[in-house]
Amino acid sequence: MSFYDPDADHDGFPVDLRPTTELVSRFHRTLMDRRHDLDWSFDESSFSAEQIENARFQWSHRAVAEYESTAQFAQLLHRLTLLGAPIEIIGAATRLATDECRHAELCAKLAELFGGNSSSVTHKGLSLYDDVNDLPLQCALTILAVCCFGETLSVPMFKSLTVVTTEPIARRVVEIIAGDEEYHSRFGWSALSWFVAELSEAQNDLIRAALPGLMSHFESVCYGGPEVFERLVETEFVVEAGEANLGTLPEDGYAAIFYATLEELIIPQLNELGFDGLAAWRER
Ligand SMILES: [Fe+2]
Ligand SMILES: [Fe+2]
Repeated sequence: MSFYDPDADHDGFPVDLRPTTELVSRFHRTLMDRRHDLDWSFDESSFSAEQIENARFQWSHRAVAEYESTAQFAQLLHRLTLLGAPIEIIGAATRLATDECRHAELCAKLAELFGGNSSSVTHKGLSLYDDVNDLPLQCALTILAVCCFGETLSVPMFKSLTVVTTEPIARRVVEIIAGDEEYHSRFGWSALSWFVAELSEAQNDLIRAALPGLMSHFESVCYGGPEVFERLVETEFVVEAGEANLGTLPEDGYAAIFYATLEELIIPQLNELGFDGLAAWRER
């Protein structure tokens, strides 16, 4: 039995799908499979080797992101309890960690099904804002980054995937994840509005100051950038059902969803909270 040693092993570790004990397995399944009974069969005959490899890569990558979200929400929960936050916020947030654990498992299992789960988690992505020496601000910034940006972008991405994905098991998985992410995004904006009202002006100034960096971070992880932006302005990216698909989008698809979501959802909701979203975008 070996566990990850961050000092010895810089390559990270995979999302571990090993069974443990009969009882733990049953408890885990009860929480993970709340509403669904999945059929994990996969007929690869309609897909090229290249499509399967691309799907294996994208699902492995998603498994890491979902595993990181599990840790980030567990950390948020811990910080909310240290802070003595209202039990309503703590209670509503408990679902987030459970959901992300479900997503991490589903994504890693799909990667496995498509040829091998190569997810590689490192400790770096499992902890947020350790350098911010202010507990309420750590909570608010985590909610802003993970829910208001990450989750709000995930919702249309997974909804687009429900349109293009043709393989039944991958389609069920994107539907399950899309449904959960909607809760996470709505929780985030609402919980952030509570924090904004509670925080001091100086703390809210630090939230405002974090916005340009978050915008450019998410622009780059969604494969955006000035050249991509120019290209997308001229040719609109359309999401429609087409050829056989294992739950993948092209890079321009992710970027187009980023720009549309920023404009239609993120900037307006930041404005509602009293932050000038457009000014932050110009500053990024
Ligand atoms: Fe998720
Ligand atoms: Fe989520």
